Parts: sequence; C-alpha cells; structure tokens
Amino acid sequence: MRYNKPIPFGWFALEYSDQLAPGALKTLHYFGRELVLFRTEGGHARALDAYCPHLGAHLGHGGTVLGEHVACPFHGWQFDGDGVCREVPYANNMPPKVQQGPAMHSYPVLERNQMIWAWYHPNGAAPTFDVDEIPEFSSEEFTPPDTYDWEINTIVQECGENGADVAHFMFVHNAQEMPQGEVSMDGIRRLTRIKNKVPRLTEDGSFSEAEGDWEFIHVDSTNIGPGQTVQRISRAFEVIMLGTVTPIDDQRTHLRFAFTMPRTQTDMNQFLAEATRDNVVGGVEQDIPIWNNKRYVENPILCDGDGPIAKYRKWFSQFYAA
Ligand code: FES
Ligand SMILES: [Fe+2]
Repeated sequence: MRYNKPIPFGWFALEYSDQLAPGALKTLHYFGRELVLFRTEGGHARALDAYCPHLGAHLGHGGTVLGEHVACPFHGWQFDGDGVCREVPYANNMPPKVQQGPAMHSYPVLERNQMIWAWYHPNGAAPTFDVDEIPEFSSEEFTPPDTYDWEINTIVQECGENGADVAHFMFVHNAQEMPQGEVSMDGIRRLTRIKNKVPRLTEDGSFSEAEGDWEFIHVDSTNIGPGQTVQRISRAFEVIMLGTVTPIDDQRTHLRFAFTMPRTQTDMNQFLAEATRDNVVGGVEQDIPIWNNKRYVENPILCDGDGPIAKYRKWFSQFYAA
C-alpha cells in the first residue's frame, strides 16, 4: 500500500447530471464502497449503499426505479432515497427493524454546476459545508461543459498538493520559472492567485513584446473542501474550469475537469481560450505518470525553494475525521 491515509470527508462529484435520466440507476464504486445512484421518476438524484439489508442482493444488478423508490431484484423490497424500506410486497407485517428508520445507508446528494454530488463522511456525519455554485455553468451565455476524466492511482490530498508544489512546474510542465502566487486559506477554502505578465498576442497570431504591449494573465484557483476546485483563467479571453476529485478507495482517485467559456467571443480569444484549456488538460496528463507511480512521504526533506507544501498539508488535514 502506497498510501496510508483515510478517505477524507466532504462533497464529491458522482456523475454529470445529464448522464442520469429519470428512472435510471447506476452502480458506482467510490469511497471504497459499492453504491447505487438513481434518479427517481420525480427527477431527484439519490445515492445508497448498494447491498440490500434483507438478504444482500446488489441493487445495481437488476434493481429498478419505481416512482420515488428503488426495488431490489431479489425479493422486490422497496427503499426510498433515505434508505427507508417502504414496501415488502409479500409481508403481512413490516419487520419491526424497517419501521425504526433507515435500513440502508444513504448519502446526502445535491445537484449543482450540472453535476451530482454526494457527501461522504466515514462516520456518517452530516454536511458541514456546501458546494460552490459557479454561475457560468448554468448561464446561456456560456458553452456546455467540455469534459475530461481520468482514473489515477493516487489520493485526493496528493492531487491538490500539485498546486502548492511550485518546483515541479519547471520539471514536469517545462515552465521557464516557478509560478509566483499568493495563497490564502480561510476555513474549508483555499485560494491561489497567480498573475503572469505575458506578451500580447496580436491579430496576425504573433506575440508582441513591444513596450506597453504586455498584458496580464490571471489564474485564480479556489479549492472548496477536498473535492471541488474552481479555476478561472482570464486574459482578454476567459475560461472557467470545474475540477473534481472523487476517492474510488483509499488508493485511487477519479479526476474530472469540465470547462466552459463564453459562447461568443472573437476568433482570436476563442482560439486562445481553447489553447488554454488544452494546456490545462495536457498539464495534468504530465502529472499523471508521476502520481500513478509515486508514494506518499509523510516527512519529506524539503528545501527553501519548495512551495508551501507543509501549509497545504495542514489545511488538508481538517478533512480527515478524528
Ligand atoms: S435481498 Fe433485497 S429484497 Fe431480498
Ligand atoms: Fe502539475
């Protein structure tokens, strides 16, 4: 085992909203557990642990959505989205145990930014914060999300450490110099602001380095809890990225990037925005081989040029349950 850490608690993305139609049910493997995600006929997304408390059938293999319930394929018991057994089709009396409350573990679920999110806590504690709304993801003036995803042999904490590890940008991402950013942390939020002076791209596609022609590119990256990152990259153009990391188990992670940009912008800005998106995607693909093969070093030997790695780790540790 390369990672010896528990799964952090927080909101984690399960699926894109448009991938779950009313009446649909999916099996997921996240948080080291088997889960079912379904959408009721009334349109509500719900998530339950997959194994039926009656005799253990897996609801993801033959289970069906009936109205607001999910029915087990083995003996037809029906559960609502809170995990309460609502119907035992052949029982004269409902077993006392199912009358006392939920018979199955359910996850708090919400839909935001065109994604379905579940709150995971190892002890089943209730949510202590929220998922940030990104207005552009529900705006008619912005493009539908352009999505990318990867399964990686790493943990959520390690993915986030990448932003604090400024030195790797020169070696993994061929940066000319280390990014200089301002980092601020406030409770569950962590904001990194980077401002880089870049030569202006002219209409003919060349870079102008003339005095007064330089402009700034701003990259604001906000972590909201362990599972959500919002990155805004702006220059003359604008790109907004929603990054999500979902623990598959305590050794593996599902990473997703969704990008949106203004529907109408000049051809040049469109070109720059797409190139920026490709650069972000290409960047993470440079990180993945390192993540896939590294291990966690609890007490690293750091030098004075390394970024705020220890501060990042201290911030992240708030998401490990006692
Ligand atoms: S195992 Fe699910 S109803 Fe029997
Ligand atoms: Fe990186």
